[in-house]
Amino acid sequence: MTLKEAKKRDLDKIMNCDPAAISRRQVKRTYTGYKALCIYRRAHRLWLKGHKSLALWLSWQAKKETGIDIHPAAQIGVGVFIDHGVGLVIGETAEIGDDVVLYQGVTLGGTGKETGKRHPTIERGVTVSAGASVLGPVRIGEESKIGAGSVVLKDVPPHSTVVGVPGRVVKQYGKRVELDQQLPDPILEELKRLNERIYNLEQSVGIRACRYSITLDEEPEYDGDRK
Ligand SMILES: CC(C)(COP(=O)(O)OP(=O)(O)OC[C@H]1O[C@@H](n2cnc3c(N)ncnc32)[C@H](O)[C@@H]1OP(=O)(O)O)[C@@H](O)C(=O)NCCC(=O)NCCS
Repeated sequence: MTLKEAKKRDLDKIMNCDPAAISRRQVKRTYTGYKALCIYRRAHRLWLKGHKSLALWLSWQAKKETGIDIHPAAQIGVGVFIDHGVGLVIGETAEIGDDVVLYQGVTLGGTGKETGKRHPTIERGVTVSAGASVLGPVRIGEESKIGAGSVVLKDVPPHSTVVGVPGRVVKQYGKRVELDQQLPDPILEELKRLNERIYNLEQSVGIRACRYSITLDEEPEYDGDRK
C-alpha cells in the first residue's frame, strides 16, 4: 500500500469515527494524531530501508510537535485513529492492526522485564481508551475495548471489554462476564466462629440473645427455653 493510500484510510476512519471532524481538510490541518501518524509512516519507511538515525530524528520531531511518541520500528496498520493523542507512547516492537482507535495518554509499552518482542500486539478494530496502559508482549484480541485508565498485563480474548487495574474482562461479545466474587473474608470467618461459640454458650445456659446476625449463614436450630 502506498503512503497516499494509507493516509486516505486514516482520514476515512477519522471522518467515520469522530463526530467533531468537520472536513478532511480541517482534520489534515488540525489533528495532531493524524499528523503524528503521517510522520510515523515516513519514518517507518526510512527505518525499513536502514536509515535508522533519520527515522529516529523524524519521530523525535513528531514528538516535539504533537506530544505523541511513536517508535519508527513499530508496525501500524491503516485506518488508525489517534484521537487527541498527547502523551501517547508506542514502543519499538508494538504491532497495531487496521482500524484501531487510540486515545490520549495511552501507553503501548514494555514492562521493563522482557527483551526482544516486549511491546503489545493490538489486533484489528481494538479501542484503547484515554490513559490506558497495555504493557508487555501481550495480545489484545480483535474488536476489544480497553477502558480508560486500565492497566492490561495479560492477553485479552477478542470482542472483550477490559477495565480496571489490573485489567479484568467485564464483557465479551456485548454480554457481561460474571466475576467470581467468592473471595475469602477472614474477618467475616472469625465473626462467624465467635457467633457460633456465643450461640453454644447461650444454649448451654438456656438463653437466646444472638438470634439474627449477618455472620450466621442460617439460624441454628434452637431447642432451649426462650427468655
Ligand atoms: C470501556 C468503555 C470503552 C466502555 O465499554 P463497554 O463495552 O460499552 O462497557 P460498559 O460501558 O457497558 O461498561 C461495562 C462495565 O465496566 C465499567 N467500566 C466502564 N469503563 C470503565 C473504566 N474506564 N474503568 C472502570 N470501570 C469501567 C462500567 O461501569 C460497567 O460496570 P458494571 O457492569 O458494574 O455496570 C468505556 O467505558 C471507556 O472507558 N471509554 C473511554 C473512552 C475514552 O477514552 N474517551 C476519551 C475521549 S476524549
